[in-house]
Amino acid sequence: SPSTESSRPKVVVTRDLGPDVMPLLRARRDLDVVTWPENRVVDRNWLLQNIPGALGVLVMMTEKVDEELLDAAGPSLRVVSTMSVGYEHADLPELAKRGIKFGYTPDVLTDAVADLSVMLALMASRIAGEVISLVQNNQWPTVSWAPFNLCGYQLSTSRTSPKRTVGFLGFGRISQATLARLIPFGITDCIYTANPSSPPQPSRDEQLLKRHGLNSLRRVDMDELARESDVLFVLAPGGPATRHLINEDFLRKMKVTSVLVNTSRGTLVDSEALAKALREKWIWGAGVDVVEGEPNVTTDHPLVKEPRCIVLPHVGSGTFETRVGMATLAVQNLLAGIDGGSNMPAALDL
Ligand code: DGY
Repeated sequence: SPSTESSRPKVVVTRDLGPDVMPLLRARRDLDVVTWPENRVVDRNWLLQNIPGALGVLVMMTEKVDEELLDAAGPSLRVVSTMSVGYEHADLPELAKRGIKFGYTPDVLTDAVADLSVMLALMASRIAGEVISLVQNNQWPTVSWAPFNLCGYQLSTSRTSPKRTVGFLGFGRISQATLARLIPFGITDCIYTANPSSPPQPSRDEQLLKRHGLNSLRRVDMDELARESDVLFVLAPGGPATRHLINEDFLRKMKVTSVLVNTSRGTLVDSEALAKALREKWIWGAGVDVVEGEPNVTTDHPLVKEPRCIVLPHVGSGTFETRVGMATLAVQNLLAGIDGGSNMPAALDL
C-alpha cells in the first residue's frame, strides 16, 4: 500500500542503498524518500501504488520502466535513475517523448566487470569448474598427479603458443579495461567488432596499439572474430539488436582450443547452442556471468549442466567498492534530475 502521505515532494527508491549512500538522500530534507523496505526485487504493485506524484524514481535493472510505470507516475516525474550501466529495462523512446531525464551508472563498474571477465577467462581456460568439483566430490585421492592430467590451456603466451589473440564482441569501456589487464599475459593481437552504425576509430585504435605494444589491433567482422579469437569476450549491450549474436553458426567457426566469456547480457548468447558447443567440444570452455532468462537458472539449465561452463549469478559489478560507487552515482543522477537535469553526472542522451 502507498506509504503515508507527506506534504513534501516525493522520490521513490526501489532498494535500500545502504549506510554509505542512503544518508545522501536523507540529507535532502525537502524530499520525502519512499524506499522499498525489503532486500529483494521490488513488488510491482508496491511500486505502482507508491510512484504516483513522484518527482523521481531510482530503480534497479530488475524494474521495467515502461508506459505502465510512467503513466502511474504521472506528469510530475522528471527523472528515472537506474543503478546499472545497462538500460534494456527502460523504454527510452517513451521517456524521451515525455521529456523525462534518464540517468545510469557507466565507468564506476568498469574495473569490477573487467576483473571478473579476466577471472572467468582464466577459470574457463584452466577447467576450474571440473577441478573444483573433483575436490568437492572427494575425488582428489583418486587422481594422481600426472603429466597431462587436469590440464587446460594457458591464457599467457608460451614457447609453443607465441601468438595469442584476444577478441571482443563490442569494444567499449569494459572491453578496453579487460584488454589492458591481459597485456601482462603477453597477449599479442586484439580484434573486435563494433555496432555496425558506429564509425571506425583509427586514431583511438592506433593509440591503444602503441600503448599496449600489440602486434595488431583491428576491427573485424563476426566471421573473423569467431575464427581468430583464442579468448573471446562478449561485452555489448543486450536487447533485440544483439540477441543471439553468439549462435550455433558462430560457435562452429571458433577454435577448438578457444574460450568464450560473457559478462554483459545473457541475451547475446544462445544458451542451447553454447551448451552444444561445449558438449561436442567445438570450443574448449566458457565462463558466463549472465544467462538469458536469469535469474531462473537452475541445475537443470543446459549451461549449468555443462562441466566446461562456469556459471556465475550476475556478479560482475559485485564488489562493495563498486556497488557504493554505483549507488552514489544513481543518487546523484536522481537528485540532479529532479533539480532540473542540467547537472546530472551521467545522463543518457535520449
Ligand atoms: C549493469 O550495471 O548493467 C550490470 O549488469 C549490473 O551491475
